[in-house]
Amino acid sequence: MQEKLHQLFSDFQKGLKNCLLEAEILDLKSQYLGKKGFISEILKNLKDVSVEQKKMIGPLANNIKKEIEHLTANKMSSIERDAINKKLAEKRIDITQREKFFDKGLNHAGPHPVSLIQREIEDIFLSMGFDILDGPHIEDDFHNFEALNIPADHPARDMQDTFWFPNLKNLLRTHTSTIQVRGMKSKRPPFKFVGPGKVFRSERTDASHESCFHQLEGMMVGENISVANLIYFMKVLLSEIFKSEVEVRLRPGFFPFVEPGFELDIRCMVCKGKGCSVCKQTGWVELLPCGMVHPNVLKAGNIDTNKWNGFAFGLGLDRLVMMKYKIDDIRHLHGGDLRFISQFSAY
Ligand code: DAH
Repeated sequence: MQEKLHQLFSDFQKGLKNCLLEAEILDLKSQYLGKKGFISEILKNLKDVSVEQKKMIGPLANNIKKEIEHLTANKMSSIERDAINKKLAEKRIDITQREKFFDKGLNHAGPHPVSLIQREIEDIFLSMGFDILDGPHIEDDFHNFEALNIPADHPARDMQDTFWFPNLKNLLRTHTSTIQVRGMKSKRPPFKFVGPGKVFRSERTDASHESCFHQLEGMMVGENISVANLIYFMKVLLSEIFKSEVEVRLRPGFFPFVEPGFELDIRCMVCKGKGCSVCKQTGWVELLPCGMVHPNVLKAGNIDTNKWNGFAFGLGLDRLVMMKYKIDDIRHLHGGDLRFISQFSAY
């Protein structure tokens, strides 16, 4: 019986080697371990053998049973792994090889809608004499919070769920307002600039929230800048984007880096202010937070607050893209699906 067991095990191993499909493996396994399988039959017949033999054969049969289970599981996962690798290799696209790219039936994708809006807005600001600045995604506490009048114990830090690095010194910037701090460092007033880019928040994603999205920060510093200047530039921007005169209104809004701070709303473009589902029947759509730069922010940027003041704003680019192209789920923007992106190549 012992010999028979060893023989069965070596037959099983040979059989397993020849299996190419998951179904074949399962079939083989049941030939040995199934109710009427070879091993099960031996275990059933144990009742007819002597106690000594039982002591030898019982554990041996059980070990072989375990070994068969172990080997089949391994082989199953290796087949699965091979299948995944094969699929990945087939789908691999070398984007430097245009011809192969087209061979796979994929049209070239064209610019991302967020890039399109970003470029359009950059052009509008360039034409009004603004510079365009950039800043790093990885920032520190000073640029993301401290210099923006958000000290360590400030409750406003909770408004933005931050991705911190394990060193607890660095973070992924939660807003492009960091670019205000960098701009004040690199420029002397008067100046005006915008700074577009990705921002990151540790948030649960849904149709209107992503952990990575895009903002465009704006800052203008000069002598005797007023809310009227802020409104003027915002109106020009919005009427250029929406290609028609846009009615705006300001509501008070709190942000530590501006005083006074506002939420700027526009008349709903869908119902022209009559009330619809887009504007939740109010006739207005909240579009952009802004305000007069807080003196503490200017001071952190070494700017003399007796002489200079300014305004700042933060525009959410993904939201604008969604309104402009009527996209109902922000997650499409990061999905990397070429079928989605290629829809914008005509613009
Ligand atoms: N940084 C703010 C945020 O992401 C947006 C913002 C509000 C920017 C007011 C501004 C501003 O420049 O004045 O939540």
